[in-house]
Amino acid sequence: MNRDELASLLEQYSQQHILSYYDKLPRARKDGLSAQIEQVDWRLISLIHNQSTQGKSSVYSPIKGMSIKQIENNKGFFYDIGIKAIRDGKAAAVLLAGGQGTRLGCDRPKGTVDIGITKRLYIFELLFNNILQAANEAKAYIPFFIMTSDKNHEQTVSFLKQHDFFGYPEGYITFFMQDMNPSVSFDGKLLMEAPGRLSMSPNGNGGWFSSMVKAGLLDEPQLKNVEWINVFSVDNVLQKIADPVFIGAAIATGNMCAAKVVRKANPYERVGVMCLEDGRPSIVEYYEMADDMLHARDVEGELSYAYGVILNYLFRMDKFKSILNVRLPIHVAEKRIPHITADGQYINPDKPNGYKFEELVLDMVHLFDSCLPFEVKRDVEFAPVKNAVGDDSIDSARRLLIKNGFIL
Ligand code: UTP
Repeated sequence: MNRDELASLLEQYSQQHILSYYDKLPRARKDGLSAQIEQVDWRLISLIHNQSTQGKSSVYSPIKGMSIKQIENNKGFFYDIGIKAIRDGKAAAVLLAGGQGTRLGCDRPKGTVDIGITKRLYIFELLFNNILQAANEAKAYIPFFIMTSDKNHEQTVSFLKQHDFFGYPEGYITFFMQDMNPSVSFDGKLLMEAPGRLSMSPNGNGGWFSSMVKAGLLDEPQLKNVEWINVFSVDNVLQKIADPVFIGAAIATGNMCAAKVVRKANPYERVGVMCLEDGRPSIVEYYEMADDMLHARDVEGELSYAYGVILNYLFRMDKFKSILNVRLPIHVAEKRIPHITADGQYINPDKPNGYKFEELVLDMVHLFDSCLPFEVKRDVEFAPVKNAVGDDSIDSARRLLIKNGFIL
């Protein structure tokens, strides 16, 4: 588009400020900005006026899960099934590492953070050790897909290459990049990260499947026999990856998906919990739960909605193939978004100043007919690194690693 065409398009959406620097840009940057503007999905911006969850008329009910005790009682049985599935090439792993880690506030991919104390121990290293452990037990490597984003792809790939993928064979590793969405201020104005560039952010951790499809990965020979995909976050340094017991339990119970969960510490803990929504598996966010739901208890006096998700899921591959064209809901998330103003000031806010548009992996659960909440011990399998200080920080993760026998 030429300048006039861009101006008329932007006027239609009250976004003329985007051309503030246009006339001073060299040709190549003009073209780059034009291409970005042409790709904006304008429907996203209208979502900021439509965020209320009130009026959502879903009927929630508790979902049955598998408790730690039930898992213990059948551990050997599940383990054997899971190991066989891995050995037969039926499991793959997808690491969601496209996030920006704004709460942690570091300027490089979260996985490259060293959380050792007396020695170096990178977050990626812990994750690779975890998947390597499952591979060693099964005596078969698990195809390992790593999702990055435009913001961290180069750094992630070069860091992992430099460290020889921490001993995991490169031939089993495939990178793919997720799509990006524009970010806007609270009043819906597109933000710019440089004079010739819109501020873009990764489209949320739910973008993994559509991005894998777009990258043509479903046709990869490595995925040919795969029946189960284990999807997990970059920041839980204690999680088990391709956990044979988890895989075996999902297979043995005939579920279409499974989610690792921890029991909520108290009714007010800010975590999404598993439930049935209109009879289908779902995850309800803590802020969507009315008081009676938060406090509901079963006959044994336990919280009825107790299973908090920790972003470690198993999904049946064949089901995905049947929902290829389903679009996930878009969440409008308040975030800190560094940007430049129309008069050239660089703003690096210390609190949220705008919205990003994200799809979330938790919404995928609702597309499945059945889901197994699989309870794990919080202190053994859940040590997320989200914040710079306090809860869910590097310090709290270190304490949990030490408690589990790691030497840092
Ligand atoms: P979070 O929701 O904690 O987001 O991601 P984040 O980007 O890491 O951190 P904040 O909110 O900016 O502080 C949970 C998992 O989903 C991945 C993250 O890398 C992490 O593993 N993720 C998140 C993506 O892969 N892509 C995204 O667009 C967002």
